[in-house]
Amino acid sequence: MRRRIRRQGRSHEHPDRLGPRFASPEALAAGGGADVREASTLSPGTALDIGCGEGADALWLAEHGWAVTAVDVSRVAVDRGRARAERLGLTVDRQVADVAQVEGRFDLVIAFCPVLHTDSGVWEHVLDRVAPGGTLLFVHHLDVDRERARAHGFDPDALVAPADVPATVGAGWRIEVDEAVDREVIEGAGAHDHRDGIVRARFL
Ligand SMILES: C[S@@+](CC[C@H](N)C(=O)[O-])C[C@H]1O[C@@H](n2cnc3c(N)ncnc32)[C@H](O)[C@@H]1O
Repeated sequence: MRRRIRRQGRSHEHPDRLGPRFASPEALAAGGGADVREASTLSPGTALDIGCGEGADALWLAEHGWAVTAVDVSRVAVDRGRARAERLGLTVDRQVADVAQVEGRFDLVIAFCPVLHTDSGVWEHVLDRVAPGGTLLFVHHLDVDRERARAHGFDPDALVAPADVPATVGAGWRIEVDEAVDREVIEGAGAHDHRDGIVRARFL
């Protein structure tokens, strides 16, 4: 499947390290709304956006009736998202926080290109944030250029990837979507072809 996306590509650099570049009108970790539309078949409830960046996905959810909590360790990203929500008249509970600090359970948890280390215990913490009957929506790039990633200071093999979702959720979950999508990001920073893995899992 090939999807053309006219939007900013996602940046894997930490927004606070980007300084003035992230503060520019062109957002680098904007989120695109394309993946969050996987949630359009669900009845709105409470949602958690993990590593929300500046939070276009959280805005899409708020616009579609979800009560959204959006967390990111980057104050720059959260402040930009807050300003954007205010301009649009949308309410999102945005918090500068590590996902490991988030408590409570949510009807929907979205994790789009998150930076979650497999050996940190944080993935189990994320799974625990999904309420019974709730949904986890996970998206990450496939076919990552490992050399380039390591040059930017992170090891993709140490991070939770799409294949880890079915492998780790356990018997109490149902995998509803597990697919690879070819993306052609045709505009903005990070415009390039790549493949994304999209997994939607329901906690029964
Ligand atoms: C690649 S960006 C993805 C942003 C957004 N979800 C999107 O799809 O455009 C990863 C984001 O996760 C944030 N992040 C990294 N580690 C985090 C953690 N432990 N808790 C919360 N946010 C984190 C980073 O600051 C960054 O904004």
